[in-house]
Amino acid sequence: MKKILCAAALLCALPITAQREATVTLHPEEAKNVISRHIYGQFAEHLGTCIYGGLWVGEESSIPNTNGYRNDVLGALKELSIPNLRWPGGCFADEYHWMDGIGPRENRPRMVNNNWGGTVEDNSFGTHEFLNLCELLGCEPYVSMNVGSGSVEETAKWVEYMTAKDGPMAKLRKENGREEPWKVKYIGVGNESWGCGGNMRPEYYADLYRRYQTYCRDYNGNRLFKIASGASDYDYNWTEVLMRNAAGHMRGLSLHYYTVLTWSGSKGSALNFNEDDYYWCLGKCLGIEPVLKKHMEIMDRYDSRKRVGLMVDEWGTWWDEEPGTVRGHLFQQNTMRDAFVAALSFNVFHKYTDRIQMCNIAQIANVLQSMILTQGDKMVLTPTYYVFKMYKPHQDATFIPMDLECDEMQVKNERYRPGRSDEEPTRTLPMLSATASKNADGAIHISLANVDLKQKQEVTINLADIKGKKVTGEILTSKHIGDHNSFEKPDVVNLAEFKGAKITKDGLKVTLPAMSIVTLTIND
Ligand code: AHR
Repeated sequence: MKKILCAAALLCALPITAQREATVTLHPEEAKNVISRHIYGQFAEHLGTCIYGGLWVGEESSIPNTNGYRNDVLGALKELSIPNLRWPGGCFADEYHWMDGIGPRENRPRMVNNNWGGTVEDNSFGTHEFLNLCELLGCEPYVSMNVGSGSVEETAKWVEYMTAKDGPMAKLRKENGREEPWKVKYIGVGNESWGCGGNMRPEYYADLYRRYQTYCRDYNGNRLFKIASGASDYDYNWTEVLMRNAAGHMRGLSLHYYTVLTWSGSKGSALNFNEDDYYWCLGKCLGIEPVLKKHMEIMDRYDSRKRVGLMVDEWGTWWDEEPGTVRGHLFQQNTMRDAFVAALSFNVFHKYTDRIQMCNIAQIANVLQSMILTQGDKMVLTPTYYVFKMYKPHQDATFIPMDLECDEMQVKNERYRPGRSDEEPTRTLPMLSATASKNADGAIHISLANVDLKQKQEVTINLADIKGKKVTGEILTSKHIGDHNSFEKPDVVNLAEFKGAKITKDGLKVTLPAMSIVTLTIND
C-alpha cells in the first residue's frame, strides 16, 4: 500500500484519500540492540540565558532556588530523567579557561563571550556549579575541553581537579570546598575544531587530539570516555581522517547536524511558517539518516567491532532569533513542528544504536530547540519537552526492528543543484514515523507520529509473538502546527491520555489524529 502521492520538485501535499492507512510489522525476534539512555542527552552552553537565568540564578535570587539553581527548572528536568549534560559549549568551550570559574565568586575574573553577542561573562557558574548540578539531576557530566585557545597543561589539570583524590589539583579543589572528586566520565577534546574551535584541518586536529588526550589521565579508578571533535553534517573527509589517524585513541567521535534552512540569508521564523515550510523541515530533519549512514560506513571500515561511538552531540532545529531578543543569544520559540523534529530524530537514532552511543539536543533552556523557556520567574515547557517525556520509556530499552508501510510525499531537497550534485531534487517524507522497544519489565512501547497536518491515519500494528493484553497511551497534538507555549499562555500544548488504540485478533489497531505524536504502552 505504498503510495507516492506527488513527485514534483516542489512540495505537494494534496490528499488523494479521505484518510491514510499504514501497516507496522514488529520483529521482536530480531530485537538485540539497547537504545542507550544517552541518546536523550542535553547540552548547556554559556550562551544567552541558557545558564544565567535558565538554570542558574544564584543563591541570593528572589526566584525560588536550591543552592542557586532554579527550583522550577530542576523539577521539570528531573521529570525527564536526563542521562547526561554537555557543558560549557559549543563554541564557548574553546575560549573557556576553567581556572577563571573556581574559588570565591567575587574574585573570579570576567571575560567577553565573543561567540555569543559579546556578553560579559562573570564566571559565577563554573566547574563546581556545573558538576554539583549534574549530581542534583542524577546525570553524567560531559565536559568539553578547550583545545582551540587552551593548553595541554590546562586540560590535564582540569581533569585532575575534577577527578583526582590527592595531589596539587585535588588540594585546590578541597580548598574550594569539595572534598571528594566528582565522577566525570565523558570528556570532549575540542568542539567544532574545523570552525569556531580553531579552524583546523582534520590532519592537524587529529594530531592535536592525540596529544591532548594523552594527558587526560584516569585517576583512582575513574575511566574517561574520550570524545574527539567530529564533522559537521556532510564533511565525510573529517570522519575519514580522524578515524584513520586517531581511532585507537578515542571512544567517541562527534557529529553535528542541525535542521536548519541554509539556502537563504534568513533561517526562517520559529513561529510564522506555512505548510510547505513544515513539510520541508521534516524532510531536512530526516536528511540526517543518509548522513549518519555515510559517516557510519566510514567508521565501520576502520572499526568493524564498533568500539568507537558516533556521538551526535549537537542536533535540533535552528530558526531566526525571536524579534526583540538579544542578537547572538539564539532564543527561539518552539512549536508542534519542533516536537515532530524531536520525535522523528529519535525514531532514526534508535535504529543505529549499535554505533550511535550518545546524542545531545541543542540546547536545554532558552537556546535553539529548548526543553524549557524562562523569563524572569516564569517558566514554560515546550512541545519538545513533552516529546522527551513521552519517549522516556525507550531509554535503555531494547530496540524492536519493524517494517513500516505508509503513504509518502516528496519535499524539496535544498541541497540539490542541477548538474552539480549527487543529491536528488526531492526527499521522500513518509507520512508515518514510528519506533518500538521492550523494557526490562517486558513492557512494549511504540511511538508513532502522524506528520499529516490534515488527515488522520488508521494504523494496523502486527505484534508478531508479543502477547500483551492491555494498551494505554499518551498523545501530543494541538489545533495548529504553529501552536506553542508562551509565558502568557503556558499550557496550549500538553500531553493527554490517548484512547485510540485497541488490541484485536488482527493486531493492534490505532487511529492517529492528524498532526499527532503518540506513545503506546502494551503490557499484560
Ligand atoms: O549550539 C550553538 C552552536 O552551534 C554551538 O556553540 C556550536 O558548537 C554550533 O555551531
